[in-house]
Amino acid sequence: MKFFIDTANLAQIKEAQDLGVLDGVTTNPSLMAKEGIKGQDNILKHYVDICNIVTGDVSAEVIATDFEGMIKEGEALAELHEQIVVKIPMIKDGVKAIKYFSEKGIKTNCTLVFSAGQALLAAKAGATYVSPFVGRLDDVSTDGMQLIEDIRIIYDNYGFETEILAASVRHPMHIIQCAKLGADVATCPLSAITALLNHPLTDKGLAQFLADAKK
Ligand code: E4P
Repeated sequence: MKFFIDTANLAQIKEAQDLGVLDGVTTNPSLMAKEGIKGQDNILKHYVDICNIVTGDVSAEVIATDFEGMIKEGEALAELHEQIVVKIPMIKDGVKAIKYFSEKGIKTNCTLVFSAGQALLAAKAGATYVSPFVGRLDDVSTDGMQLIEDIRIIYDNYGFETEILAASVRHPMHIIQCAKLGADVATCPLSAITALLNHPLTDKGLAQFLADAKK
């Protein structure tokens, strides 16, 4: 399973990259705003800065919600850097835009996916990635992981190549569950990735080994 980091924070992206396990980055307009990135030129520059830190795919989201607007924005984003993946919302014009980009060989990430039917449409349109938001489903008392399982079954039934990019992953158990269910990618905050490192028996065992090494 690939690990993407879900942030626009350059320091955190660098830290994850330095850990040696990072496969890509996802961003969204809220994450960009959180870093105080404003204005079109600054936003585009920030995407390039991210691409220069990591070696994998970097999702950059369009703001337009109409077909023509999404095509214009998406093409400009894709021209920025070869690692850019155009992130497009799961709406009717979004599906059309995904189909358009797929035929042009431009990678897409279909975002804001909350049902198996939406994931099926994204795959039919040729999305490179589909982003089911597991945490936001959990937030409304719906099992986010069930959606990952359902999409995995559907994609495997028909050999769809769209990668399941589990999004809105909030904690280490989400990551483990995604891995067990066969998600292709989990995108998560740095804290969820580094939390995978921790086990009290590791700390205890290491302390014992270091103490014994001095004997
Ligand atoms: C996905 O690409 C989104 O950026 C993200 O995972 C949303 O996560 P949140 O629900 O924690 O905001």
